[in-house]
This record gives sequence, structure tokens and C-alpha cells, in this order.
Amino acid sequence: MDTDVECQFSRRKLLQVAAGIISTTLLGAGSSRGSEVDERELKATRGRANLAGPDAPWTAVWAYDGTVPGLTLRVQQGRPVRITVENGLDEDTTVHWHGIRLPNAMDGVPGLTQPPIKPGESFIYEYTPPDAGTFWYHPHANSLVQLGRGLSGVLIVEEAQPVAIDRDLLWMLQDWRLSADWQIAPGFGSVMDAAMSGRVGNVVTVNGALPADQPVKAGERVRLRLANASLARIMALRFEGHRPIIVALDGQPCDPHEPEGGRLVLAPAMRIDVLLDMQGKPGKRYAVVDDFYDGLAYTLATLAYDIGPPLRAYPLDMPLALPRNPLPEPDLARAKRQEIVLQGGMMGGGAAWAINGISMTGDGHSAMMPQFTLERGATCLLTMRNETAWWHPMHIHGFSMLVLTRNGSPVPNRQWQDTVLLAPKDTIECAFVADNPGDWMLHCHVADHQMAGLMTVFRVT
Ligand code: C2O
Ligand code: CU
Ligand code: CU
Repeated sequence: MDTDVECQFSRRKLLQVAAGIISTTLLGAGSSRGSEVDERELKATRGRANLAGPDAPWTAVWAYDGTVPGLTLRVQQGRPVRITVENGLDEDTTVHWHGIRLPNAMDGVPGLTQPPIKPGESFIYEYTPPDAGTFWYHPHANSLVQLGRGLSGVLIVEEAQPVAIDRDLLWMLQDWRLSADWQIAPGFGSVMDAAMSGRVGNVVTVNGALPADQPVKAGERVRLRLANASLARIMALRFEGHRPIIVALDGQPCDPHEPEGGRLVLAPAMRIDVLLDMQGKPGKRYAVVDDFYDGLAYTLATLAYDIGPPLRAYPLDMPLALPRNPLPEPDLARAKRQEIVLQGGMMGGGAAWAINGISMTGDGHSAMMPQFTLERGATCLLTMRNETAWWHPMHIHGFSMLVLTRNGSPVPNRQWQDTVLLAPKDTIECAFVADNPGDWMLHCHVADHQMAGLMTVFRVT
């Protein structure tokens, strides 16, 4: 980071704040297209959210610019962005751009890739997103509490060429553990949560509100972006009367396919883009149900059809494949093999978690020694073996991994993911090209698990 630029920038920013013109400046910058830098701002701050509708009590939250979820940032593939993050909290924070392949210094891991942003201070993140798709951003400091109190938002990187769909919809899913007065329940990091499934909540919101109607029109083709920003809740979505086609996972396009058993499994931090042809009848209603946990099914949203005639007489027959992103192709014949064994949890004799026998706790600090090293440009064939009795969405920073096999069976449809869900006792093989130098994290995205040791660091030299 060039400190001169940083100083100048914050001085200019102060002037803008003083003149009260900051939001107009921002809108101006965001809407212009081209190769000049796209400038944005985010402020982590305390706020109030109206999760259950205007008549219900407000919930005190921590949020980007005070809104839940944070503003959806829409940026362009291949166009540089500069995002100034201001810390309006009473504690250190950072922002991690989950899933974006960016320079290590912009990855937002305190101690490992940058100093934490102190209260009242700012940090400028600058990078050029190479991949189009659905990503998200969240703090990487005191993650369990900061994410659990509401700090997160979606980052959409738009394709260079627009995709042929009728509508682009986003459902940003958040899970909250609230007490009876609608306030965030205390007890973050309890031993029970840490040793078991993590802090699963009792209220799920879609774009910051309780499940509600999603108005749709018969015949339209929708790209629905799903992002699970929960601390711990895994979701499995069934679309009554509809057949969603998965076109991208974790932002990366895959071969279009129907989900196994018709259910979209979305673990914390995962994103799925589906193509939904609205084949229902005008005026009718269809539930979208999350039934991941036995006996705890609930309706996440309802597709509410307009009574008007269908948008088109015949459904579109081609499944739409999104353009592939420029990911480097793994060279499996010359790959370096690395195994990661997930250990611990309540059934493993203790409450601590570990990877290959080492418990790395917290969210990032300077003493994290890499557990393995890859030469720049080498292909890593990574095996992740879950020895525990729990589910773990394992997330890699800085890379997308091609998922090759699950429990010995090939995984079809060329699925690249940055967050791969391992069921109890699962073994997964994936591959990626270590083309991006730096120290990178690999951790479970159930925040309690990460904080309690299910995390490691590797180095690309
Ligand atoms: Cu989405 Cu290390 O995090
Ligand atoms: Cu990440
Ligand atoms: Cu886990």
C-alpha cells in the first residue's frame, strides 16, 4: 500500500464528509463504466435492523453502513476496484473478500496479510476481480461475533458480456440467534457451540427480512443468486413445483446440472447460482423449503406468481451455461499431493478442533506458521479427510479448487469451489494451481470451529 496515496485519499475523504457530498460522489463513481478505478466505501458500524417488519422491535446489529445485509457491491470483471473500509466499531476489524482471487495483501486476514483496522481508522483494499460471479465480504477479525452480529454483504462481479436472462435476483441468507425481545442472544463462543455444530440460530432472514413472497412472472427465466452468510446453519433448499439448474458454485460457472435429489445444499459461506424457469401457473404460490435439519423444515420464501399471462408461450429449452472464468488448469500428472485431516469435536475426545494434529485458533495473527508450502505455479492435489462426526464447509483463501472426487467417486460437472462441504467421515480430493504467492488460510467456515482450531495456513512461494 502506498501510504502517500492513502493519506491523500483520507484527507480528500474528510473534506467530502465535511461537505456532505460523499454519497453523490460514490454513486457517480459506481455507475460509470470503463477501465478507470471503481471507487467504493464501506463503514463497519453499529446500527439497528428491522428484521421482522416495521411493527416488530428493532434489533441492534453491527453492519456495513448500518444496513443488514451490507450494500450489494456490483463491480465489473477485470476492472480495478478501490474500496475504502472505515472502522466505526469499538474494536479492530478487517474485510475479507470471500472467494475473490486477489493479491495476498488485500485478503483481509489480520496479522497474516495486513494489520487490523483500528477503531476510527481506514484501510484501502485495491484489486481487480479476475472472475465474474457471486462473492461476498465479511470481517476476518473476531469473526464469530462480527459476522454473527450482522457484518456481511454480497459482492457481485458482473460478466463482461451480459447474460441472457430475464431477471437477476439475489437471496442473501443470514441466520440469527435472537432472544425473545429480538435482540442478538449473548453467549458467542460457548463450549457447546464450539464442540458441536456451531452457533446455529433461530431466525433466518432473506435479504435482511423474514421469509416473504418473491414476486415472479410465469415464463420468465431468472438467475437466482443464493449466498449463505450464516455462522453455522447449513441449508438444503427445495423449490416446490420447480426445477432449479445449478449454473455456478461459489461464483465459478460449472456445467449446468440439476442438484442431487432436487435439493440445493448450501453450507455457510457457499454461494449457488441457479437458473429458474418459472414454470408455475399465474396466480399460484410455491414454497421454497429448507429441510436440511431433520424435523426442522421451514419455508424460506414463497414464489408468488403474478396473475398476468406467461411472459413467453413456450419455456426456453436451452439450459444456459455461464461463460467460464479464467482459472488455471491443474496439471494432475505433476501435482504435489497434500493431505489435510480434520480432527476433534465432541465425539473426538475433546472440545478442540485440529488439522493434522495442530489447532490454529482465532481469526488470524502473526504467529501462524504455514503447515505446507507450494512452489508458485505448481498444482496442488489436496485431499481433505474428515475424521470427525460433524459437518465442515472447508474454505480456501485466494484460490478456487476443482473438486475431483468425493469418497472415491468422481465429481461431475467441473465444479470449482472455494468452500467445500464435508459430511462426517467424508474424503474429498480437489486440485488448484498455486499461482498466487503469499500465506493463505484454509479453514472451516463454521465460525465456532474456525475459532476453536479448525484452521491452517499454507504458503505459496
Ligand atoms: Cu469467508 Cu477466511 O473466510
Ligand atoms: Cu475467504
Ligand atoms: Cu467445521
